[in-house]
Amino acid sequence: MRTYDPEYENKVREFNAGAGRKAYIRTYGCQQNVSDSEKIAALAENMGYELCDSPESASLVVFNTCAVRHSAEQKILGNVGQLHALKEKNPSMITVLCGCMTQQEHVVEDIKKRYSFIDIVIGTSAVHELPRLIFSRLTGGRKIRTLYDESGEIVEGIGNVRNEAFRAFVPIMYGCNNFCTYCIVPYVRGRERSRRSGDVLAEVKSLVASGCREVTLLGQNVNSYREPEKGTGFPQLLRDVAALEGDFKIRFMTSHPKDASDELIDVIASCDKLAKHIHLPVQSGSDRILKAMNRKYTRGDYLSLVKRARERIDGLCITSDMIVGFPGETEADFEDTLSLVDEIGYDSLFTFLYSIREGTPAAKMPDQVPRDVKQKRFDALLELQTRKGFERNAAMKGLEFTVLVDEVKGDAEGGVKLLSSRTDGNKIVEFAGPAELYGNYARVRITEPMSWLLKGELVD
Ligand code: SAH
Ligand code: SF4
Ligand code: F3S
Repeated sequence: MRTYDPEYENKVREFNAGAGRKAYIRTYGCQQNVSDSEKIAALAENMGYELCDSPESASLVVFNTCAVRHSAEQKILGNVGQLHALKEKNPSMITVLCGCMTQQEHVVEDIKKRYSFIDIVIGTSAVHELPRLIFSRLTGGRKIRTLYDESGEIVEGIGNVRNEAFRAFVPIMYGCNNFCTYCIVPYVRGRERSRRSGDVLAEVKSLVASGCREVTLLGQNVNSYREPEKGTGFPQLLRDVAALEGDFKIRFMTSHPKDASDELIDVIASCDKLAKHIHLPVQSGSDRILKAMNRKYTRGDYLSLVKRARERIDGLCITSDMIVGFPGETEADFEDTLSLVDEIGYDSLFTFLYSIREGTPAAKMPDQVPRDVKQKRFDALLELQTRKGFERNAAMKGLEFTVLVDEVKGDAEGGVKLLSSRTDGNKIVEFAGPAELYGNYARVRITEPMSWLLKGELVD
């Protein structure tokens, strides 16, 4: 662990690299990438760049990429291709590719061949090197490729430029050691490493002091958090964050079911500041497939965990991720997935078609499921979840909730706005109200539950 050394940054500032210039940062993928982009934005601003919303007017364009599924990579490569025309119009524009996609050797080789106009390609743990690399390129240095900062060291002190003042992502650990057989993340994000609790607490404290209402603690598997000096785990970190003064909520993601302990359940149950929501990705309802996925829990373990959590935590919302069409998945395995979803009754479910990721064990497994079979199963699962989600939401009709307003969607009748908000359980509630509620808590009553969201009205 070390603190960001601003020596190069100072040099770059002297050179005034970004002065009078604009930077455009586009983020793909998960919250981890959003958080990394907030650091890239801070580095760019320190260099004098002004952040902007489109690549056309930018002198620095950064694509922070995701590799979790083939479709994500294809979309990104399409967008990278479109940069070529811009670069021809404006040859002094600096183009940067970073993130999970560019952590893979074969992708970098492909980019060098097909998109040779790209200036800088770096991996996931080299974000702090960006000012130095941009500076070098601006001063005539050759094209640079830093694939991987081998140490994977956490660099503190970079700062963050966040879009919203009322809620924030706070990473607590990086990387993953679980090696689920379908997943690219451990290969592109490296081994697990945790931030010092003191650094996490200081960041949350300063966010709350500046008016932040909700922090989401981030990690690929937050339950693996280990304080690097004291060795304490995630439940203790949650207790410490909850002990900070202020009116704010704590969320976290993602929890791997194999490590979600009773101690964690107790903390959620007993701390008011903790949102009563847990994202608990199950991936499949079939024991055979869970084993092939290397998830390290059975359907029975998962069901009993959900039962304990629901018994202990009033009004708990549970959401999950599910993959359909993992290699070797039979109709019977898929029926197990459907029956699990039926039995649990998730508040919300993110469903994915299995996507082959080069370099992962599942990519080489026999019996890959044909595309049309995957799609049929996907549709069936979606239909079931739409029904189950509606059942869960229907039970909320007439009830009141405190929500955090996170979007002004447009005009509503009576000169007010249509607002979108989130309950403690992370459910979306839309209602009409004054625009000033944006970023604040409001009290709403549910009037019309739907499958994917709830309609409500403001309670005085
Ligand atoms: N660390 C988190 C999530 C990481 S990726 C966890 O363990 O839950 C987010 C989701 O993408 C996963 O939960 C999984 O459902 C999905 N996913 C990952 N690899 C995939 C692949 N090869 N094909 C389809 N979906 C995948
Ligand atoms: Fe991927 Fe599994 Fe790690 Fe999640 S826990 S990031 S699914 S390997
Ligand atoms: Fe994608 Fe990397 Fe996140 S692969 S899902 S951006 S960790």
